[in-house]
Amino acid sequence: MTERQTTTPVPSPEASPTAPPLLSAQGLRITYPGRHGGPPARAVDGVELDVRAGEIVALVGESGCGKTTLARALLGLVRPTEGRVGFGGEPLEYSARTLKAYRRRVQLVLQDPTGSLNPRHTVYDAVAEGLRIHGHRGDERATVAAALSRAGLRPPERFFLRYPHELSGGQRQRVVIAGALVLEPELLVADEPVASLDASVRGEILALLLRLRTELGLSALVVTHDLGLAWNIADRVAVMYLGRIVETGDVEQVLTAPRHPYTQALLSVLPEAAGAPVVLTGEPPDPSRIPSGCRFHARCQILASGEAERAGVAGACRDEDPGVLEGGGQAQVACHWARATVTA
Ligand SMILES: Nc1ncnc2c1ncn2[C@@H]1O[C@H](COP(=O)(O)OP(=O)(O)O)[C@@H](O)[C@H]1O
Ligand code: SF4
Ligand SMILES: [Mg+2]
Repeated sequence: MTERQTTTPVPSPEASPTAPPLLSAQGLRITYPGRHGGPPARAVDGVELDVRAGEIVALVGESGCGKTTLARALLGLVRPTEGRVGFGGEPLEYSARTLKAYRRRVQLVLQDPTGSLNPRHTVYDAVAEGLRIHGHRGDERATVAAALSRAGLRPPERFFLRYPHELSGGQRQRVVIAGALVLEPELLVADEPVASLDASVRGEILALLLRLRTELGLSALVVTHDLGLAWNIADRVAVMYLGRIVETGDVEQVLTAPRHPYTQALLSVLPEAAGAPVVLTGEPPDPSRIPSGCRFHARCQILASGEAERAGVAGACRDEDPGVLEGGGQAQVACHWARATVTA
C-alpha cells in the first residue's frame, strides 16, 4: 500500500467539503426478521453517510457487516426500517415512478459480471437494455457505442455482436460498467466491483473508475472488503462493523493513521503492514446478537490488552455505546479509547 494509483489531483475539484451531499443515508436502519423464530438481524443499525458530488467513498468492512444491505438501501432496492435516503437534498420516495427516475441517476455495478449479464444477450443488447427500459429517445446505436467506448471497449462496434462467454472477465466487467454509464448517471454504487477478477485486471478496472470520475465528474460509493482497493481508489473511507460506521475520514488519514481498533486490526493483516498482525478473538459478528456497550468490545485487542483500562475507559467500552457518527466529511471515530487518547 505504498503507492496510490490515483490520477492526481485527488479529491477532484467538484468534491468540496461545503457542497451538499449528492447521496446520503440519514439514521438508516434495516432489520431483517429473525431466522427460525430467533431475534431480528439489525444488518444496518443507524448509519449516517454522505457521498458528495465528484467524490469516491469506499465502504469497507468484513463480510457480513452490512455493506451490501446498506448499498441496496441507498439504491432504493431495500426500503429502510427506519431513517431515510437522501439524493440531491431530497428524501427518496418509494413510488414506482420516483424509483424508476432515481435508478437512472444512481446506477449499480455488481461484483460478478457473469451473474449480471444474460448469457443469451449480445453486448449491444446488454448495454441498450437500460435505454429501452427508460424509453430513451435519440440514436440508440451511437449512445451504446459511446458508452462502450467510455468503458474502454474500443472500437465499440467490434463488441456489439459478441456474447458474454466470448469475452474475458475484465471485458465483461467493462460491459456491465458501459450498461451503467449509458444512462448518464450521476453516481455509481459498485459492490465489490473487482472481487471476482484476476489481480492483473483489477488495476485496469480501478483505473477506469478513476478516469470516469475525472472525465464525467461521476461520484461513486465503492463497497469492498479490501482496504488496498480503497487506498487505490477512494477520497474518503467509511469503515463498517456490525451495521455501523465506526471510523470515517480521508483515505490517507484513516489508512495511514487508523484510530479505531477494528480499522487497526483490518490494516494489520495486509501484506504491507509493518507490525504483527492483530488476530481478532471472540465471536464472529452476528447482527441478531449485537453486544451492549461498544459492539466491538468482545473482540477488541485494545480492551483485551489492558490499554483501554489504562486509559480509564474499560467500563465505558463494556457499558456505553460510542454512538452513531455524523455523515459529514470530517474524520470521526466511534471508540471511547481513541477519543480519550487523542493527542492535541
Ligand atoms: N434477506 C436477509 N434476511 C436475513 N438476514 C440477512 C438478509 N440479507 C442479509 N442478511 C444478514 O445481514 C448481515 C449483513 O449482510 P450483508 O449486507 O450482505 O453484509 P456484507 O455485504 O457486508 O457482507 C449478515 O449477517 C446477513 O446474514
Ligand atoms: S470503545 Fe473500547 S472496546 Fe470499543 S473499539 Fe474502542 S477500545 Fe475497543
Ligand atoms: Mg456484500
